[in-house]
This record gives sequence, structure tokens and C-alpha cells, in this order.
Amino acid sequence: MLRSHTCGELRSSHIGSSADLCGWVDRVRDHKGVIFVDLRDRWGKTQVVIGPESPPEALAAARAVRPEWVIRARGTVGARPAGTTNPKLATGEIEVVARAVEVLNEAETPVFQPGATDLPGEEVRLAHRWLDLRRPQMQDNLFLRSRIVKIMRDHFDELGFIDVETPMLGKSTPEGARDYLVPSRLDHGSFFALPQSPQLYKQLLMMAGFDRYVQVAKCFRDEDLRADRQPEFTQLDVEMSFVEADDVMGVIEGLVQRTAREILGLDVPLPLPRLSWDECMERFGHDAPDLRYGLEIIDLTALAAESDFRVFRAAAEGGGRVRGIRVPGVAGKFSRKDLDELTAVATEAGAKGLVWLKVETDGAWTGPVAKNLGAIADRLKAALACGPGDLALIVADSFDVTCKALHTLRKRLGAQLGLYDPNAMHFSWVVDFPMFAKDAESGGWASMHHPFTAPRPADVGRLESDPAACRAVAYDLVINGSEAGGGTIRIHDGATQEKVFALLGITAEVARERFGFLLDALRSGAPPHGGIALGIDRWVMLFGKLDSIRDVIAFPKTQKASDLMTGAPAPVETRQLVELGVRVVAPPPKPVAGG
Ligand code: AMO
Ligand code: AMP
Repeated sequence: MLRSHTCGELRSSHIGSSADLCGWVDRVRDHKGVIFVDLRDRWGKTQVVIGPESPPEALAAARAVRPEWVIRARGTVGARPAGTTNPKLATGEIEVVARAVEVLNEAETPVFQPGATDLPGEEVRLAHRWLDLRRPQMQDNLFLRSRIVKIMRDHFDELGFIDVETPMLGKSTPEGARDYLVPSRLDHGSFFALPQSPQLYKQLLMMAGFDRYVQVAKCFRDEDLRADRQPEFTQLDVEMSFVEADDVMGVIEGLVQRTAREILGLDVPLPLPRLSWDECMERFGHDAPDLRYGLEIIDLTALAAESDFRVFRAAAEGGGRVRGIRVPGVAGKFSRKDLDELTAVATEAGAKGLVWLKVETDGAWTGPVAKNLGAIADRLKAALACGPGDLALIVADSFDVTCKALHTLRKRLGAQLGLYDPNAMHFSWVVDFPMFAKDAESGGWASMHHPFTAPRPADVGRLESDPAACRAVAYDLVINGSEAGGGTIRIHDGATQEKVFALLGITAEVARERFGFLLDALRSGAPPHGGIALGIDRWVMLFGKLDSIRDVIAFPKTQKASDLMTGAPAPVETRQLVELGVRVVAPPPKPVAGG
């Protein structure tokens, strides 16, 4: 090694010993001829001092160095003079008095300094990711990721799971997103699909008898991106044979407990709370609710049906719902502007409007529609448990719209009012999902999870007669309002699988062409099996209390699915396209502004 110690290693116990350090120049200060260099590496920072007693060559070299140069400093560990120790730094009691400074590599003036507090915008940081990754915060994030993945691997290894790699070049595995396609050079017009998940392969591994499989698996989904989604992300993918839902959930609960203990020093009591999908939608309007705070949704439909207020009556009588939340103690705080903003949040989420009502100190409702409440005014107060100083927010619409609008309001108010401790962690399961949901585009049935999910045994008989009522043996792990994992027990007989394909509008011919191998395998001795996949990026984000998934991925993509550092995706040479038998159709012309 070019060094004897790292930049995070030296303590007062090393005083007097010699030390050779290598690293990046974080900061240089020249104090009346004494030069202080903060030397940084992955392990920490150490102050190097080059003073009048250092050889002139060392002084000259130190005077020349600039931030981000890579140097080697060789010297002796000394105590920092009284009053100059830095308790914030692990190495803050010592300094290395250099007898030689060697420049290993110069650096051009960096676009930004990783050590600086005023950082440029994310685009600049993404385009110069190697600099951004020099920041201690980013390094911490990737170390955290590495630790979490190690805990995961250890956990499953100890439980007898086998780690198997599955192909990246394969056939489409439907998980509800668009595929990323790779053209075949040897078979023009044919394409591989990058896996949306290893779903089918892991099921086939169960049919092959591996019994317990795990993989840290890259998945690719061409879908609209958000702060917690990337086109390329990583799952901790798990599959088990001869199991029921409780068995898979039990294994994951053990992992949750272990990760929380080792990473956060937190004791998570087991079993984790379970909520049914119906209960989630009724109480929180969402299938991954944040349970760190209340603001639960209250159904007011029956009451609304008795009211003379047109908006309430119309929804209640038209098969819709009238639902609201009580926001305690904010009536005096929320101005008209705040309430207009909340109304905009609700309408953006699809609501036609938002009824807001305040309870004044005298107990009377005020608000734009307070006078319309008529006979139900008092009972509405009781239903919402509203008292003086409280605010009620009510939406009248279809069940889905009320869910979406009230969930969005709840989330926004939870954060805005600081209703939870941002350091708290809440883990829960959501179970009993519907098997199917109506597809907005086609009007047909779509899988709520994926087409390989088993219905509850009691619902097998009504798959065809009443698909809407069928519930799946599915379980999602929710951490702080984020879907951190999802899994199901699988269909393990060919006949049921064919029935489900048919319900999803996949004809027998298409099913054979796309999933023939699965149908054959299901008929050649398939054990009952099930599994789950955890979103590793989301786990790291949640355990690290970070806001963006991009901060836990070394080289992430932007919201537009591009890599600002390499410039991917990018055009390729015509020669490559010819080889692949691919012709590029010119994109439609961009609309001209004002045209
Ligand atoms: P699912 O689609 O629910 O299930 O994915 C499992 C978990 O992966 C994470 N995740 C994502 N993370 C980042 N970016 C994305 N675009 C993204 N999409 C999903 C989430 C999610 O809970 N094959 C099934 C699992 C199974 O049934 O065993 C599957 O992929 O945390
Ligand atoms: P309008 O008569 O449409 O102006 O609505 C009267 C009030 O009811 C306004 O404050 C609207 O924001 C609100 N409102 C209208 N439609 C709905 C709805 N579907 N749900 C909740 N509030 C609504």
C-alpha cells in the first residue's frame, strides 16, 4: 500500500508514530507560512500540517496543491495544540506533521467541490457523479446500502436459501410496466425483453426443486418515474416451496427486525400489524398508507344522503361516496389561501371540489357551504368528531376519487403539520388485495399484482362468475407509507393459470405462445409455492431517512430516464442498426411554441 493508515484511522494513541496517508485534498489553508491540508478519503479526514520545520520541498509541494488533487503525505502523528482540537472529527485530536508531500495526481478545478456546503443543482451533480460520490453523505448512503444488502444475504443464507442468477436477456415478464427491449442480431425482428422482475424464472426454480431461492436482482421497467421509482432498480427477490402466506411473511418479518436492530438500533415488535386492502382504502384511501399519524377518513355517505346540499345528495344518490377527514386544531391557523391550496390539491387529484368547514369557538360551522348543511349540521360534527378549532375536509365523488383526493390531502397535511416524527419507522402488511382491477384503457380486467398470483382458495370457484369479489393471497410490506415489498402465493396448477389468463383477456393461443413453458412446467409436478420481492433501493432510502431514490443508487437515471453522466440513451451508428435489422422512425415533430 502507498499508505500506512487511512484518513479516518489516527487517534491520540498514535501520537509519536509515523504515518503515510493518501487521499484527496479537501481544503488547504495557509496560516502565516504554516500550511494545513485536510486530507480526505473514504474513511474520513485528517489534518496534515506542513510548517517551517518541514523540509523546503514539502512546503513548496504543499503550497502548490489545490482542492481535489490526490496526494501522499508522510510524517509523524502529533497532538493538536490545546484549543485547536476538533471534537466533530474522529481524528480531531491529532494532526500529521509532514516531512514529505508527494503529488500523485493533479486535478483541474472541479465543477463543484465535494467538501463544500453550497452544492450545485442535482443535474450538475448527476452529470459529474464521480465528484458527487466523493461527498461523505453520498458515501454514507452507499455504505448503508452495502450493509443492508449484506444483512439480507446473511439472513437468507442462514435460512438455507440458494442464490441463483436468472437471465437479463429473456422474454417479457409482465409486472404492469412497459418492457425495455433488446434487438436480436441473429434473428432480425426478434427482441429480448429485459426482466421487469425474475418472477417466472424463480417460479421455475421452485418447479425444479430448489425449494428456497434468493437473488439480488436488477429489474427494468419503462414506466413514469417518481421520487421513489427508477427505470432500473434492484429487488431482493425471494421464492419458497411448500409455503403459505404466513411463512413468507414470517421470513421477511425476521429480516425487518434484524435490519432495524442492526441499522437503527430499533426493536421492532413482531408480528407486524396487518390491514386488509379494504380497510386501508376505507381508512386511508390508499393501499400503502402512512400509519405514523392519524387523519383517518370517515364515511359520511348515509348522512349526506339526508342533506339538502346538492353536491352531497348527488354523490350519495348516484352510487358515489361522501367522505372526509378531521384536521384537529387548525381552524384558526388556516387562512383562505391555505384552504384554496388544499382545494387545488384535491382537484388535482381528481376531485370536483373540496368542502371545507371550520368549527368556530361557539361550536358553529363556518365555511362556504356551512349554510347548506341544514338538518345534518350537528350530526356531521358528531360523525367527524369535530369540536371547536377543528377543520373538516370533505369530498363527494366516486369511491376511487374520494380515496385519491383524501389520501393526497392526508399525506400533505401529515407532512405540513409535522404530525409524525420523521425518525419514526412504521412497518405493516397490507393483505387480501383484490385479484383484479378494471383497466382504465381497455375496460377489461387487469391483475392487481401479476397474472401468476393465486386467488384465496375460497374464491377459486367464483373466478369466472364474480372476478371483482375475488381476493388474492397477496401481501405488501409498507414502511412509512411506501410500498417496500410485495409478494403473493402463486397459482401452481395449469388449469387455474389458464383460467386467470383468459380473464385477463389473454387468449389460449397467446398464452401458449407467451407462457407455454410455464403452463408445461405447471403440469409437470409444480409444488405449491410463493414469494416476495423487496425494493432494495426503497429500503435503503427509508432506513437512511432519505427523500430520493437517486441518492441511494451509485449511477441513477433522471426522471426522464436518462443518465446525465454518460449521455445514455444515445443514438447509435447506422452500421449497428443495419446489423440488428432495426430502422429508426423519425420522432413526431415537436409542437412549435405558439403554433
Ligand atoms: P412488485 O412489482 O411489487 O413485485 O415489486 C416489488 C418491489 O420492488 C420495488 N419496486 C421499485 N423500486 C424502484 N423503482 C421501481 N420502478 C420499482 N418498482 C417496484 C417496490 C416493490 O414493492 N415479482 C413481484 C414480486 C413477487 O410477487 O414475488 C414483483 O416484482 O418496493
Ligand atoms: P359549486 O356549487 O360547484 O360551486 O360547489 C360548491 C362548493 O362545493 C365549492 O366549495 C366546491 O369546492 C365544493 N364542491 C363541489 N363539488 C364537490 C365535490 N364533488 N366534493 C366536494 N366538494 C365539492
